[in-house]
Amino acid sequence: MSKAPIRIAVTGASGNIGYALLFRIANGDMLGPDQPVFLHLIDLPEAVAACRGVVMELNDCAFPLLAGTVATSDYAEGFGDVDWAVLVGARPRGPGMERADLLLGNGPIFTGQGDAVDRHAREDVKVCVVGNPCNTNALIAQSRVKRTNPANYTAMTRLDQNRAAAQLAAKSGRPVSSVKNLGVWGNHSPTMFPNWFDATIAGLPATDAIGDSSWFEGDFLKTVQQRGKEIINARGKSSAASAASAAIDHINSWATGKMTGDFISMAVPSDGSYGVPEGLIFSYPCRITSPGKYEIVQGLELNEFGRAALDKTAGELVNERDTVKDLLP
Ligand code: LMR
Repeated sequence: MSKAPIRIAVTGASGNIGYALLFRIANGDMLGPDQPVFLHLIDLPEAVAACRGVVMELNDCAFPLLAGTVATSDYAEGFGDVDWAVLVGARPRGPGMERADLLLGNGPIFTGQGDAVDRHAREDVKVCVVGNPCNTNALIAQSRVKRTNPANYTAMTRLDQNRAAAQLAAKSGRPVSSVKNLGVWGNHSPTMFPNWFDATIAGLPATDAIGDSSWFEGDFLKTVQQRGKEIINARGKSSAASAASAAIDHINSWATGKMTGDFISMAVPSDGSYGVPEGLIFSYPCRITSPGKYEIVQGLELNEFGRAALDKTAGELVNERDTVKDLLP
């Protein structure tokens, strides 16, 4: 091992997403095939024994890149000196629940974790919030920042991008790798806007490649926006392997600069771009300008449909921010 290990904290490490995520990180899928990793498994005190079981299994895989592990419920140890924090742990949505139901339940978890990441992690720690409602949870965590970089607090909408790309690939009969520039805008919720107007399939505008405009506004939009709920209804529990895979993709792009086209979707602090209220954690098409650095892609045109969709999802995030105002400074 020539490179120094990179430390990655994963909260909710004994849960379903954690179980699907940790082995792939240790296998090099997240940070690359020559990058050793040191995993910090964080969970509630009653789940630390289960985390130790996961550590046994991680060790039993004999991953060449796995430089070490800790399993703990202590935030100082768990977030100590980490380069990346993947905040997965939160109460998941069950059948019949909307994300809004989770806001007040999960919000307080993220004040504590935000404080701890800011206090104990490396100063340039990069954060990906997966636990729902992930945009507003990221906002709560970011609001605690005193030392770390507030721009590095992000939430995951790559799952929505991947879902949308898979739908476009299936409809067009092309491989998913031929789908590019599918930017997801806004909230990771049923108001999200997977903007097919910029997407291409094998170099053609997706709208031309598919040639059925009513499908986009109908089945496509509904499928992507409601996918999380559909999976919960089918499995009786929330998506796990696909969410873990999207977290891998989110961080892999951010860390290495590898993108699926000219941009990828990340929920990042709004700087007011495209008229979105400043400060919201809003999913934009983002470009990785160099490993570890992103920028919001500028100059994309939004038609009337896109503008209305974007205003709606931004409005929902404003409402979420109002709902948790007592948790914000
Ligand atoms: C998903 O999109 O599958 C997850 O965020 C779970 C959910 O609540 O929808």
